[in-house]
Amino acid sequence: MLLGSSLSVAAQTASQTLAPQALASAYGCMSCHGLVRKQVGPGFAQIAARYRGDAQAPMRLAGKIRNGGVGTWGRVIMPRQSRVSEADALALARWVLSQPPPPP
Ligand code: HEC
Repeated sequence: MLLGSSLSVAAQTASQTLAPQALASAYGCMSCHGLVRKQVGPGFAQIAARYRGDAQAPMRLAGKIRNGGVGTWGRVIMPRQSRVSEADALALARWVLSQPPPPP
């Protein structure tokens, strides 16, 4: 039954029901990150500009989202976001990397 099976797949993970931007709000990313400009952490547009053309960036950033880290952008630590599933972390990383370049 085609309809039934696609509905159950959609219900499996939050990432398939929430758009990445809604995920970012739900996980509290936006309390430290601006879409464009630096707040506590770098702006998502700044991150996208830094890694543009880097094919490894989605996987690497997905890992960093879940494990946290420091030293790439400065001395403020990004705490590990262990509530974020691997699938959601990858969706968030791809979305961050898809932000348009920051205006000069
Ligand atoms: C408590 C503040 C805080 C929260 C909450 C937070 N971040 Fe961060 N984030 C930071 C800081 C600070 C950095 C810079 C770390 C560094 O310099 O290595 C950072 C860096 C990043 C980077 C770039 C990593 C790199 O290596 O260039 C990404 C992508 C990112 N955050 C995504 C997210 C996402 C997605 C969430 C929500 C699930 C999130 N952050 C929640 C503070 C935060």
